[in-house]
Amino acid sequence: VTTTVLDRAVRVPVAGVEHPGPSAICRIGLLGLGNVGSAFARLARDPSASFAAVGFTPAVAAALVRSPAKPRGSDLAPLITDDREAFFAEPVDLVVEALGGVDPAFTLVSRALARGIPVVTANKSLIAAHGDELSRIARRHGTALRYEAACMAGVPFLGTFERRPLAARASGVTAILNGTSNYILSALAAGGGSFAGALADAQRLGYAEPDPSMDISGADAAEKLTILIRLFGRLVVEPARIPLDAIAEVDGEDMSAAAAWGGAIRPLARAAWRDTAIRAHVGPAFVGGTHALAHVAGVSNGIVIDAERGTQCYIGPGAGPEVTAATLLDDVAEVVTERRVRTPACPVVEAATAVTVPDSAWFLRLGGALPSDIADLLGSYGIWCTRLERRGARVYALTCSATPARIHAALDAVRAATGADAAGVPAIVEEASC
Ligand SMILES: NC(=O)c1ccc[n+]([C@@H]2O[C@H](COP(=O)([O-])OP(=O)(O)OC[C@H]3O[C@@H](n4cnc5c(N)ncnc54)[C@H](OP(=O)(O)O)[C@@H]3O)[C@@H](O)[C@H]2O)c1
Repeated sequence: VTTTVLDRAVRVPVAGVEHPGPSAICRIGLLGLGNVGSAFARLARDPSASFAAVGFTPAVAAALVRSPAKPRGSDLAPLITDDREAFFAEPVDLVVEALGGVDPAFTLVSRALARGIPVVTANKSLIAAHGDELSRIARRHGTALRYEAACMAGVPFLGTFERRPLAARASGVTAILNGTSNYILSALAAGGGSFAGALADAQRLGYAEPDPSMDISGADAAEKLTILIRLFGRLVVEPARIPLDAIAEVDGEDMSAAAAWGGAIRPLARAAWRDTAIRAHVGPAFVGGTHALAHVAGVSNGIVIDAERGTQCYIGPGAGPEVTAATLLDDVAEVVTERRVRTPACPVVEAATAVTVPDSAWFLRLGGALPSDIADLLGSYGIWCTRLERRGARVYALTCSATPARIHAALDAVRAATGADAAGVPAIVEEASC
């Protein structure tokens, strides 16, 4: 048994990298030098990240960017180019992808894998759209593909479950997968300003996606959710089929009402599966105070896995550039130091048939001059309230479990009767009295 990448890594100097003595230099081709790529390049040079202890020194040998003239640290890579041929002409032992988006990332990652070069990526869009195909290419060429940083980069758990198919047997997941939207909702809950101000803060801190509408609409979390559905549910589903609600549907008053009832409104991504049918939703949801995710605030991420062996919960930091870079570099370390190439597992996966919104309890916001028999009006639509309370100009209610169709019919009826606002988000609560 031989080492793989390290055996191929030549013991020659790379510009700007002091030769590490007995450990080999791992020459890295870096796709993208934006928030994540730059953080990765800086961390790779950081002498305190003692990779020599595990037998190698990472060295970024070349970086591919869109605009090479853009001002950035010239010491980040000896070659910074927008020329793909020049990039691929550089001898590298491993490619790290931090471009974002599906194209040209798919073309470039496939090209590296087809040459037998291992790839480590932070790109959830790429893995959600083409994870299976890329795994097959990697397997065919006897090389590795790692994407721990693509979903909850600050909480490394994907690889663990990938290696443990029995532990990964699960019937569903409930998660906070997008730090930006959790940060915004938490800021609204704290009464600390506007939606736009909280989003600007998240962007300044490098948490937001290059296009923040992906965070706010839930599309970013939907991509990550499909990665989890594939891993835990063995089902393939396109992100566009996951029903979404934007976090902009809730405001600070809703957050205060949720807090007054001991809970919180969080940006949840949920999925449960049976055979090939999936019930899934991404959007703001009320979470009762006893739920583990009720207390996952700010930019943090968390996941509750309904595993066959019992419920498991992982909570940790959201994925800023530095955290993501560290997870990428850990994946690099794992790939270059493993004694045998761990080609991506290609588990038997099936295509999902139906994808529908799950039934749940609901947290309702009813505005305007409501009839005194509002609970009866809701009841006439089969919606039973476990809690109903006026707060200023609004009434808030928590209901028993109901189908989305039934709740929307009831809210339409309230709007028709009052001419006022009536809206609801799913509620994850213990339904003792329903
Ligand atoms: N930001 C985070 O905290 C975070 C966390 C987890 C995962 N991620 C993932 O990490 C990836 C990168 O995110 P980011 O925030 O670093 O994005 P970013 O700041 O926009 O950086 C993208 C980089 O890719 C380069 N690039 C884009 N299109 C290109 C093209 N067609 N050809 C060549 N180069 C191209 C850009 O070049 P220029 O510099 O010349 O424009 C830039 O250097 C994404 O997949 C994202 O989902 C990000």
